[in-house]
Amino acid sequence: LMRTGPAQQSTVCPYACQRRTTTANKNKRFTDALEVLVEYHELTEIEGPRVAYSRAASVLKSLPWTIESMGGTEALPCVGEKTRTLIQEILQYGRSFEVEKILADERYQTLKLFTSVFGVGPKTADKWYRRGLRSFSQILADPDVQLNRMQQNGFLHYTDLSRGLSAAEARAVEAVVGETVRTVAPNARVVLTGGFRRGKEFGHDVDFIVTTAEPGRENSLLPLIMGRLEEQGLLLFQAHHPSTLALKKIPCRRFEAMDYYSKCFLILKLEGSRVQGGGQAVPAGRGWRAVRVDLVAPPIERFAFTQLGWTGSKQFERDLRRFARVERNMLLDNHALFDKAKFLAAVTEKDIFAHLGLEYMEPWQRNA
Ligand code: GTP
Ligand code: MN
Ligand code: MN
Repeated sequence: LMRTGPAQQSTVCPYACQRRTTTANKNKRFTDALEVLVEYHELTEIEGPRVAYSRAASVLKSLPWTIESMGGTEALPCVGEKTRTLIQEILQYGRSFEVEKILADERYQTLKLFTSVFGVGPKTADKWYRRGLRSFSQILADPDVQLNRMQQNGFLHYTDLSRGLSAAEARAVEAVVGETVRTVAPNARVVLTGGFRRGKEFGHDVDFIVTTAEPGRENSLLPLIMGRLEEQGLLLFQAHHPSTLALKKIPCRRFEAMDYYSKCFLILKLEGSRVQGGGQAVPAGRGWRAVRVDLVAPPIERFAFTQLGWTGSKQFERDLRRFARVERNMLLDNHALFDKAKFLAAVTEKDIFAHLGLEYMEPWQRNA
């Protein structure tokens, strides 16, 4: 009988886009610890260790076996000495001292709390921390703190938004957005993307791509959709970023950069009656909850790139781009794939994987 286990680790590929990673993570006790380290370095904006730890976590998530001893871990790609020490500590003591130290760190706790507010990034959080602020009530009481519209809504809807959404709630949101789009643009198409397309059971928002076959029409879709949501009394907040797409732009080298498509970040009102078994989904007595929704409207010929770029996971995207650049000498982003002097066209995601010489990965295998 063939055993799945350490003997097969030589087959673990170094890039996340070459590994099939489902939501069934067999090494959660290690990846949870690594993710604390990733988050700490993200919050304090230290790049090097952030990259190393997120690659290591991603490798462990993809393993079809649970690590039960150190044997063979030295052969895993992207798993360095520091990660191995952490694995060893967890195997031996059930916890990691470095992780415990971070979890108890006041700066980490405060930055994590502040960035949990919609509209607050690491820079703002750190600015508030350096002003001596430690709690939401201190922020809200400080006359010198100026909250932008996004942050005001982040605080206003904090309880709902910080709870995240279940897959059932995401389906209810999909029905609302679908009905709205059919009303204002019957020829447009809406598809689910982001974490829920990858089959996740929980998410912080629901992401959709909206397209139309009529050239140029994609730029008017989001205002129409937001207008209709507003009429229905469902639009609690909207931030619209019109398209800045220049069709000849060479793909961007930086992954974190925003893309150029028309997009909007929304807070919608989700009525409890829409959610199956909605009783526990919405706060008692109110009948609705706030949910975060992202919409992106690319031109139809960029649909495949948008779908590949917005399905995630973030680590999968980073490694796709790195693979394209380092292994293929190509540039990939949410808009295009550029090979030396020319752009490579794609109708489906499969075309892009094929251009890159990668085996196709289904969305639910991209939970790197
Ligand atoms: P959740 O936290 O559950 O929502 O996980 P998620 O994987 O859905 O994350 P998120 O909604 O933040 O993003 C989904 C995907 O879209 C990720 O791969 C992001 O990189 C991508 N994405 C989202 N917004 C933008 C954006 O403004 N610009 C770019 N370039 N990519 C984006
Ligand atoms: Mn999402
Ligand atoms: Mn999103």
